[in-house]
Amino acid sequence: QRGGQPENQPGIIGHRGSAGTAPENTVPSMRDARTAGADLFEIDLQMSSDGVPFLFHDTTAARTTNVADVFPERADDHITSFTWDELSQLDAGSFFGTPFHGTDIPHLDAAARQARGWTGVNVEIKEPSASPGVEQALADTIAENRDWQRLLAQDKLIVSSFDVESLETFHELAPEVPVLPIAGELPGDEVLAEWAEYSVGVVTNYRNLEPGDVSRVHDLGLELGTYTVNSPEAMQQLTDQGVDWIITDFPRVLSRMQGGKDP
Ligand code: G3P
Ligand code: MG
Repeated sequence: QRGGQPENQPGIIGHRGSAGTAPENTVPSMRDARTAGADLFEIDLQMSSDGVPFLFHDTTAARTTNVADVFPERADDHITSFTWDELSQLDAGSFFGTPFHGTDIPHLDAAARQARGWTGVNVEIKEPSASPGVEQALADTIAENRDWQRLLAQDKLIVSSFDVESLETFHELAPEVPVLPIAGELPGDEVLAEWAEYSVGVVTNYRNLEPGDVSRVHDLGLELGTYTVNSPEAMQQLTDQGVDWIITDFPRVLSRMQGGKDP
């Protein structure tokens, strides 16, 4: 249905870039998604304590960085309590493997740059209550930066969030940018209809999909995205069910299944 896909094949969204093959939410991960032939890559957006938008999933730096070495006292502090300068001192690649030693936490703008006019970007606003002003920062970034404007013009930019209120706030600031609420389980038709008033689609955990959900969503004029789909069997099943987007840590696996979109 969506993504300009031939033969109703779902669009491919690389999860946190290509989290199965490179450190999540980093430049190598976004590069992997691009070269794998993903239609979009998803990245998680947060804001530093001094107001710089950056890419990161977790609430602390402990799992994916060397924060315990650099700021031993602050390993369990919220990631958004760090300044951009402090975040820039962390290594966000070594946890994945030595070849990624010295990989930085990226600024939001790195995502639009890494798309390279080839891949699109799905920005997920992550835990916005810990990143006050993140909706305005994202809207400003898109409005002011040529790379983001180009993505928007090419219909290669979507914004999503588990936080529906934050998504509505962002939508009011940047109504031209397509938004998709995320829900672990799809809500009832009444809530879905409310979301349909300003959203192009909805994203959900594929494990919680129930029979009839795909047509229920489509009947409301919404696209359906599913996360995080890593087995070829599940990818095939969701393709057969007619979902519009598949979010995966292994975009190349899905791309090959679709006949190979490697550039
Ligand atoms: O956008 C879908 C997916 O990324 C949501 O889960 O926790 O990986 O951000 P999470
Ligand atoms: Mg995410």
